[in-house]
Amino acid sequence: MSGNIVNAMTVSGGGEPKPFLLDCDPGHDDMIAMMVAIAAADIELLGVTTVAGNQTGDKTAMNARRVATLVGEHTLPIAKGCERPLYRELRTAAHIHGSSGLDGAALPEPSVALRAEHAVDFLERTTLASSRPVTLVPTGPLTNIAMLLRKAPEVREKIERVVLMGGAMHESNVTPVAEFNIFVDPEAADAVFTSGLPLTMVGLDVTYRALFEEGDFVRLEQLGGPVSAVVAPLLRFFAGAYEKRRGLRAAPLHDALAVAIARDPSIAETRSFHVAVETQGRYTTGQTVVDTHNVTGNRPNAEVAVEFDLPRFKKIIFDAIAFLDARASGDR
Ligand code: BDR
Ligand code: CA
Repeated sequence: MSGNIVNAMTVSGGGEPKPFLLDCDPGHDDMIAMMVAIAAADIELLGVTTVAGNQTGDKTAMNARRVATLVGEHTLPIAKGCERPLYRELRTAAHIHGSSGLDGAALPEPSVALRAEHAVDFLERTTLASSRPVTLVPTGPLTNIAMLLRKAPEVREKIERVVLMGGAMHESNVTPVAEFNIFVDPEAADAVFTSGLPLTMVGLDVTYRALFEEGDFVRLEQLGGPVSAVVAPLLRFFAGAYEKRRGLRAAPLHDALAVAIARDPSIAETRSFHVAVETQGRYTTGQTVVDTHNVTGNRPNAEVAVEFDLPRFKKIIFDAIAFLDARASGDR
């Protein structure tokens, strides 16, 4: 976190801020995830890497830079990563996030530069250079992370935990059984779920309850700052897309919930399960097969989020945006 304004977003217990790397594909909910990671005093955001997913690689990288610019995070390292999944054609989510990947309001032209380095190299270098193990939070397809583990397996020693948004036990959004991030690059997801790294899966079963509704949009508008003034219409657009697509009159902040849980696991309840990723299904490719009754006898490889505290989650989001509003107003 940078800036002079004292931020109330600390987790009781104190201690040094946790080093985080956010790998994302902004995306409306990725944008909120970025904002929480930037605003939280107890997170040391080492950088943001981008991947193709909600939109093409060029657009998601551009959106990350625009979001950093909007919130005045001018020195945040941002590195662009893989342009397509490991073995498949890219599928985007323009029907949810629009043709820019962040439709619904005008974001500023980016004044935050993109690193010359590829995201996978940036992740490798930054993780290895960190004095403390890093929490990795992927909120897009897992292509960059799979490439990182393949290219530099020694980073495993320096990864505290991977807390990813993706998959589901019972929910789905892109096919009857698959969640978007896993479906777009199932081979990459398989590599991550079989990596043996400590893993938390924040899937659709919980993220479809991380909802911002009409009253929340009004509250955001009432904050009246330069960041909330842009975030409110963006989230209204996002909610509109979900209404058309799913009859849901709300914005599910999937990715922000992953950051919130990575930051403070006490806001969620998790269970240890074995999770397998279907890569060869005739109808089921991209499904996360969660062995809730341990019928396979396989050792659990993930902590799966099953519940969370919605009021605490909403407070985290409002505190983050209010902080960024105040800081951006001070900057002007
Ligand atoms: C996930 O897919 C994307 O559209 C969102 O940003 C989120 O990461 C939800 O399935
Ligand atoms: Ca995302």
